[in-house]
Amino acid sequence: MSSLLEVRDLTVMYRGRGRRKDKVALEGVSVSLNEGETLGLVGESGSGKSTLGNTVLGLVKPERGTIRFDGSDIAGLTGAARRKLSTQIQAVFQDPYTSFNPHRTIEQSMGETLANSPPMSRGEKRARVVAMLDRVGLDSSALSKFPAQFSGGQRQRISIARALLPEPRLVVCDESVSALDLSVQAQILNLLLELQRERGVAYLFITHDLSVVRHMSTRIAVLEHGKLIEQGDAAGVTDEPSQPYTRRLISASLSADSELQRDRRSTRRAMTRLAADATGDRSKRADEVLRTLEHQAVTEVFAQPVPQSRALALPLSRGIAGVADVDGVTALRAAVLELAPRTAEAMTPAAMLTLVQEARARKCSALISRGQSGVLYGRIRDLAVAIETGDRARALELVGSFDEPLEPSPHPNGARAGAHTIESQA
Ligand SMILES: Nc1ncnc2c1ncn2[C@@H]1O[C@H](COP(=O)(O)OP(=O)(O)OP(=O)(O)O)[C@@H](O)[C@H]1O
Ligand SMILES: [Mg+2]
Repeated sequence: MSSLLEVRDLTVMYRGRGRRKDKVALEGVSVSLNEGETLGLVGESGSGKSTLGNTVLGLVKPERGTIRFDGSDIAGLTGAARRKLSTQIQAVFQDPYTSFNPHRTIEQSMGETLANSPPMSRGEKRARVVAMLDRVGLDSSALSKFPAQFSGGQRQRISIARALLPEPRLVVCDESVSALDLSVQAQILNLLLELQRERGVAYLFITHDLSVVRHMSTRIAVLEHGKLIEQGDAAGVTDEPSQPYTRRLISASLSADSELQRDRRSTRRAMTRLAADATGDRSKRADEVLRTLEHQAVTEVFAQPVPQSRALALPLSRGIAGVADVDGVTALRAAVLELAPRTAEAMTPAAMLTLVQEARARKCSALISRGQSGVLYGRIRDLAVAIETGDRARALELVGSFDEPLEPSPHPNGARAGAHTIESQA
């Protein structure tokens, strides 16, 4: 029996514009999925999971390779032929807040998925929508409501109902539960499993969370930097991974943290923007990168199963005193650019935080001569204390507050008031 989905030697490239380099997001990837089964696709942020899903959905064009669905190559399909396929291949994305048009009722949004199905009367259409909503635990009062009137979990139920409405044979689930609370996640995952048993639909199940994927999948494929490095039955890959990368993914998922993933993703985006921005205000961009890096570093530190605070030798005084005569912005830019490739390799959080702190300290140096060193130094010191004492909320709050006093304050008392707040909260 041939597979429902057969991806062969798929290479996908994002073309760079201007001075931006081309990016190979997938390289020679081959995976397959049988009718009614689930292929879990895992890998760290940026490994190419969504790119694979989006290529199957026809949202991204492959450079090379074939995607066979039910025996025919769908990689090059466009226009009407592609739209026709939407009755067979559907998607449920991560964010139930952005996947609906806020100005359309649930009935309108769901009805759209039937646009390419055989024609039916309005009454028939409504009956099918109501039955599908009922199946995911919502009653017909949902029809006339707008997306904003539902919780995240309810909205994700509606996304699933919408995807399954045309009775597709394949659903691409891209981080479909990652934005939900753990208890809601479990309900949605079980709903997906029940619907699969009832309807025999196949899932391409994309997630960064290995504990979730094992629960859902028949087989698992592991991506690293756009390459398929491991593939096998779900229990085998999770219990006896053959690759060190998969082992690392598994230990990282013990502290699976969607906040962490969000931070890593925004760091990557900020860095991409910095790299792309040849003409704009690079110092502002560098600042943005530094902020996201700081946030990520703190989140990483606290995501460790065992606090690593002892390993943090923050070279704060050295950082500040040693570069006090350097122009802050130039130094910051250099520091951030130097950080960029290193964060791409999995750095230890402690090392990353140290580097970030150095960058911050170099930026601070420009202000020391303006008489604000007390406030800045106080905040960096407080951050170190918050990390040492395991106070995650405080550490993140401090990171968020770093930028406030960095511009020269028009009111000399402003900086004072800031310092006071820090002291009294410490
Ligand atoms: N539209 C785009 N243009 C340029 N590069 C892109 C584009 N989309 C993704 N990329 C790059 O391709 C690589 C793979 O991205 P992709 O979104 O597939 O990763 P992912 O595994 O889904 O990550 P995440 O877990 O964060 O969702 C990344 O380096 C990303 O920056
Ligand atoms: Mg993704």
